[in-house]
Amino acid sequence: DLKIIIMIIIGYLLGSIPSGVWIGKYFFNKDIRNYGSGNMGTTNTFRVLGKKAGITVLLLDMLKGSLTALLPFFFGVHVNALLIGLSAILGHAFPIFAGFKGGKAVATSVGVLLVYNPLFFVIAWVFFLTTLYLTSMVSVASMVGFTLLSIVSFFFQDRLLTTVAVVLTIFVFIRHWSNIERIKNGTENMVPFGLGYKK
Ligand code: G3P
Repeated sequence: DLKIIIMIIIGYLLGSIPSGVWIGKYFFNKDIRNYGSGNMGTTNTFRVLGKKAGITVLLLDMLKGSLTALLPFFFGVHVNALLIGLSAILGHAFPIFAGFKGGKAVATSVGVLLVYNPLFFVIAWVFFLTTLYLTSMVSVASMVGFTLLSIVSFFFQDRLLTTVAVVLTIFVFIRHWSNIERIKNGTENMVPFGLGYKK
């Protein structure tokens, strides 16, 4: 129905907003895609533009997912929030406002999960932060976090949730290919947090 198509388009457009790129350009006169890992996500914003900008991008990218997942509620339509949320993740990964070259889908996915199932959202953060503490690598924490989420999703007995979690995990791995290369070479960037980090 028409409302569903409109929601998907709004979600895609919301997801397409390249918050890291725009904040870098307008407030720092820097295109973060030319620095650090070259990614437009939260991690690279932290790395290139610092803490304040990093937290802002994390919140904005999560918000894109959360708002999109809330669209069925705003529109008063009975359609699964997770399915509509996927349009924001798609937008974030293939943004129309940034040459279709987008981010690694981590923060936006987590924003969708917050609306769909807050418990799952909390579990995601626990997995992520624990792995980050042990490895000091955001990429590893993202990949391990999604993998564990896929496994845990089986206990929720929600076939859609498991399907989406598995598909997102595969996508997150594909998007982290350059990170995987660096991890193998021992050159992956570390954050100054946790056991892996050595001065
Ligand atoms: O969410 C992306 C993160 O897992 C890795 O980012 O910039 O280190 O490639 P980056």
